[in-house]
Amino acid sequence: MIRRPHLHEIKLLPQIENEADLRYGHVGLRRVIDMPPATIVSLAQGLRDNRLWVAASPLNRPVGFALMKLHDGTAWLDQLSVLDRWQGRGLGVALIDRTAAAARILGHDTLYLSTYRDVPWNAPFYVKRGFEEVPRGIWPRAFRVQFMAENSHGHPPWRRTIMRRSLGRDG
Ligand SMILES: CC(C)(COP(=O)(O)OP(=O)(O)OC[C@H]1O[C@@H](n2cnc3c(N)ncnc32)[C@H](O)[C@@H]1OP(=O)(O)O)[C@@H](O)C(=O)NCCC(=O)NCCS
Repeated sequence: MIRRPHLHEIKLLPQIENEADLRYGHVGLRRVIDMPPATIVSLAQGLRDNRLWVAASPLNRPVGFALMKLHDGTAWLDQLSVLDRWQGRGLGVALIDRTAAAARILGHDTLYLSTYRDVPWNAPFYVKRGFEEVPRGIWPRAFRVQFMAENSHGHPPWRRTIMRRSLGRDG
């Protein structure tokens, strides 16, 4: 089930992100594991602004989450994480769809994200969910600035890409 988190659950989400990211160790990206997770402050703000959702287990415990951010008038899927043992059950896709629906309700026609091009559960996973790469040549300045800011955390920029999903009537 996808739902808004309760305030007391926010503290669980950085731990979910850290645990979900462990799979990057299998593709030579230990640096992702070492990066700090989303902060409690930004998650609490996301909850207040209705931009944060959790995937809950049958016992109603959060096992994944999605955080949407708005940058320069555009909607971004800023973080998506599902605990390892809960992956492969459709929770990631359900969180993406909830984020897309929320962006559409806010009047956005496109949902953006940045991700690894060559990691199977990143760009290839998103392509199957209706995302496509935004060619670098048409990135507005705001995208380039954001891309550089993200890469300053240690992402190798040549392996990264920005993707978009059109939010038509079907999301
Ligand atoms: C990316 C991530 C959130 C995906 O979460 P997930 O819950 O495993 O996603 P889903 O279950 O919806 O989809 C994963 C795969 O399981 C498949 N799947 C979905 N439901 C399924 C089911 N009931 N039975 C079997 N497989 C299923 C999907 O088809 C998909 O496979 P595909 O990509 O080959 O099509 C998760 O891998 C993760 O947390 N990774 C680490 C953090 C990360 O990379 N975040 C994204 C950064 S940009």
